[in-house]
Amino acid sequence: MTGSRIQNASLRDKIMSADDAASLIRPSTTVGMSGFTGSGYPKSVPMALARRIEEEHAAGNPFKVKVWTGASTGPELDGALAKVNGIEFRLPYNSDPVARERINAGEMHYFDMHLSQVAPMAWQGFLGPLDTAIVEVSGITPDKTLIPSSSIGNNKTWLDQASQIILEVNGWQSEALDGMHDIYYGTALPPNRKPIPLVRPDDRIGRTHFSVDPDKIVAIVETDAPDRNLPFAEPDDVANAIAGHLLEFLAHEVKVGRLPQELLPLQSGVGNVTNAVLAGLMDAPFGNMTAYTEVIQDGMLDLLEEGKLRMASATAFSLSPNAAERFNRDAARFTGKLILRPQEISNHPELVRRLGCIAMNGLIEADIYGNVNSTHVMGSRIQNGIGGSGDFARNAFVSIFMTPSIAKGGKISAIVPQAAHVDHTSQDVQVIVTEQGLADLRGLSPKQRAEVIIANCAHPVYRPMLQDYYRRASETSFGRHAPNILGEALSWHQRYVETGSMQPGDAHAGC
Ligand code: COA
Repeated sequence: MTGSRIQNASLRDKIMSADDAASLIRPSTTVGMSGFTGSGYPKSVPMALARRIEEEHAAGNPFKVKVWTGASTGPELDGALAKVNGIEFRLPYNSDPVARERINAGEMHYFDMHLSQVAPMAWQGFLGPLDTAIVEVSGITPDKTLIPSSSIGNNKTWLDQASQIILEVNGWQSEALDGMHDIYYGTALPPNRKPIPLVRPDDRIGRTHFSVDPDKIVAIVETDAPDRNLPFAEPDDVANAIAGHLLEFLAHEVKVGRLPQELLPLQSGVGNVTNAVLAGLMDAPFGNMTAYTEVIQDGMLDLLEEGKLRMASATAFSLSPNAAERFNRDAARFTGKLILRPQEISNHPELVRRLGCIAMNGLIEADIYGNVNSTHVMGSRIQNGIGGSGDFARNAFVSIFMTPSIAKGGKISAIVPQAAHVDHTSQDVQVIVTEQGLADLRGLSPKQRAEVIIANCAHPVYRPMLQDYYRRASETSFGRHAPNILGEALSWHQRYVETGSMQPGDAHAGC
């Protein structure tokens, strides 16, 4: 079915089964796979590798691999390999529940890192050698270049660096993807780095196909399987309230002349809340917008179709099944409006700063001074990873974080005296939004920040507790610049770990 996608006759000789391809991967080696937010990941060879690992384990033979990707993948990759305990080390981002359990059980090493830094660190030699690349593509041209699929991620780097390459050619991917990619080949190591010549989100600075050394291709596997494509939840009242506060803020910024009517390039993080914001933009008084972001979600496709968004640049799709089907049915109508780039370019700090992106990301918790934890529940249990949030937050025109004010039915406050883990320091956090309201922290001192965060963002159940803590801290703290009571600052987290609730005396406590 996908044979016609492999347009080079000599490469067709390398077509084999997924099991045969997986047999080319040796234990303890490093495998760089394609895949970003559940799109464009290999769907067949990782499962064959998982079967092989399971057989080896049953025979008493140790067999694990180190897995590098673009970001999150799907159950056929992270899920399958984690289930058989086949991953020794993983980077740079994971959202798979089975792998998450392995990591949090201490059975898998995980290096959660800024997504823009993965390729540069690989080139700098910081990550060690890459043995095998397994990359999904949507086709191979007669002259042996590769047509990328629904994500670019780190594929260029994996293809360039790996000793051997296994390709999956996926016939499910739309042929109209061809031409939507822009793969920049101008990166270099210091001291030879040059400015990246991109000054507008729609600038094209690279090639549409991957170049590859054909001698390194050891296997080609044909597949016909959809991306992971999880459905988004319909925005609920909380998500809509957060979106409402944020859109009001953006309208105000336009009114006072700090943002143009078409805004600045939007960056929207992963999750249901950020998708609700995109849905809210549909009726907002902004037009001709652009996006310079990491992933294209449903909300962005809608905005593109309505013409509210002029174009979007990203590294991957992250669509619901319905939106993916809609896209695949007639992808050609998005030609010229969508550009997919390597993640080191989609998330590049130089470009985010130059373009002046409006960064909108989710958080796990923020403290009263505006330090943000995006990754670790109760300071020790990883949820997903920092992803691209750090790439954008530090360099954005304005850095916005949003969250419901409570989690787990109110047992947890998202606003706490002190964050139990910090991914984004207060300097990188300019606006915090919950369904309760918005805290504009720009230009405020720590004490001014605390007052506005507690008043505007905390849930009414936790607000008096935070006010009480802050008042006592202000009276007794060792220093009064950012007052804290060290022995108490993390007591809310400890209470949750011990009783199942951050609320003292919660009758229904229990982990
Ligand atoms: N304590 C404990 N758990 C919390 C929590 C808190 N303070 N806040 C959220 N959670 C849990 C939720 O209960 C939910 O758990 P569940 O899956 O068991 O129901 C999970 O975290 C997701 O939270 P949700 O409220 O559904 O928000 P989300 O889908 O918007 O995700 C993040 C929020 C922070 C997890 C997500 O934005 C993320 O991974 N961010 C880091 C990476 C990133 O920002 N990438 C984008 C850059 S381009």
